[in-house]
Amino acid sequence: MSSCSFVMFGATGDLVRRLLMPALYNLAATGLFPDRCALVGVAREKLSSDTFRRSLVDALREYLRAAFDSRVADRLLASVHYVRGDIDSPRTYASLANLLVAIEDHRPSPADRLFYLALPPMTFATVATSLAAFGLTAERGGAGWRRVIVEKPFGVSLDSARALDRELADVLGKHQLYRIDHYLGKASVQNIQTLRFGNGIFEPVWNRDHIDHVQITVAETVTVERRGRFYDATGALRDMVPNHLFQMLAAIAMEPPSRFDAVSVHRAKAELLDAVRPGSDGDVQANVVRGQYRAGAIGAANVPAYRDAPYVDAASSTETYVALKLRVDTARWTGVPFYLRTGKALSRTRAEVAITFKRSPTMMFSEKQAERLMANVLVLEVAPDEGVGLRLNAKSPNPSLTVGGVDMRFSFRDYFDAVRAVGYEKLIHDCMMGDATLFQSAGMVEAGWRAVAPFVDAWAESAGHDPFPYPAGSEGPPEADALLARDGRAWRPIEQEGAR
Ligand code: BG6
Repeated sequence: MSSCSFVMFGATGDLVRRLLMPALYNLAATGLFPDRCALVGVAREKLSSDTFRRSLVDALREYLRAAFDSRVADRLLASVHYVRGDIDSPRTYASLANLLVAIEDHRPSPADRLFYLALPPMTFATVATSLAAFGLTAERGGAGWRRVIVEKPFGVSLDSARALDRELADVLGKHQLYRIDHYLGKASVQNIQTLRFGNGIFEPVWNRDHIDHVQITVAETVTVERRGRFYDATGALRDMVPNHLFQMLAAIAMEPPSRFDAVSVHRAKAELLDAVRPGSDGDVQANVVRGQYRAGAIGAANVPAYRDAPYVDAASSTETYVALKLRVDTARWTGVPFYLRTGKALSRTRAEVAITFKRSPTMMFSEKQAERLMANVLVLEVAPDEGVGLRLNAKSPNPSLTVGGVDMRFSFRDYFDAVRAVGYEKLIHDCMMGDATLFQSAGMVEAGWRAVAPFVDAWAESAGHDPFPYPAGSEGPPEADALLARDGRAWRPIEQEGAR
């Protein structure tokens, strides 16, 4: 028997309230969170453990996607503690060390510890170094495991990611560091591998001979909200592309790993990301469109311009939308463009990968019929629903030979009755089991930053160029359409349902 402590830095922040707590609750509800686990919050606010516990209950009531069951919450929150302190102050770590020893004194050993850094990336090294200095991460002498989860973005560039890695490697063993990207926890993203490698019908056509192009979209209705301080310094590209969008890209395009374990999967993904380049040589800028939302309306809600959001510079030239054309320089993908786009304050929340296949020869059809035939599109839906759709051409059931696109669809909801997961459940559980397969390796992070560096560098050279404006509630700046129109292609409308 063992016991554990789950220590959350940034415990009063948005991430803990919105995502972590619901995820821990879902784990507890399915019996996957250890019963004897103490929850320890660390943050700057002055709170008692009781007030902290109440704030966690409030967070569950507000953000849980399933019905709130007080028995599950009581089990999860049976042992809640709070440490008030600044992450720069040694006193914080001294108090934490005393608290953990006191908690573990009454519990079975070994006593495991998971430290979750729900903090901005520039603080990771400070916190990890201090944890180590106070012996909190030492695994010696029959102590249980000590693991540290750090949030994305890991650094802000290739150099800063490497520097951060070096700093963390000084104080943590490789096996203790878990770089999280919650997209990897989404069932639909994990399913990409199963779909590709678990079904014999896909791999033979999963290449440049059969695939015309790939579109990866993460469209969000959410605005910058109150995250201006982080977001204005980060922008859509750094916030979403080298991490969330590239997780999907890697899963779609990587070569089959020899095993489903951390080493093989990380290697396959890092190799793939290493082969990602701007879509065409020469002018990097021709492969990218940046946008920034202006005032508009999303549904019935009026949305002020990005520049009027709290903590955002009134003359900000940070992008809230980015569309990219990329290529993947491998034998499998030569000549197949990958179009990626992500943006905030758009008309609809939709995350998907759409794989458009080459058209079939249409000799047997009349010219008019052939015009109505559509390319097959395989759509892997990630949000708001999780599922898979395939656009096929079918004959309509009337005497004439009328053909057109139909959608063949599978939805996770219809098959699996799991509560709607947040995405963090699987990852936290895996970390507790010591399985890093669905986390990011240093190689993946570095390859991701390397792939976006040409765009960031090109923008730095043309500093002062404002992103293209788009009204909140739209599909993004019209210039993004030109990126595909130039190649004789078009984005799938984000309003569109299914694959049809
Ligand atoms: C976060 C980004 O990592 O992911 C946010 O920082 C973004 O800006 C969020 O809104 C999207 O996650 P999801 O799961 O809602 O698609």
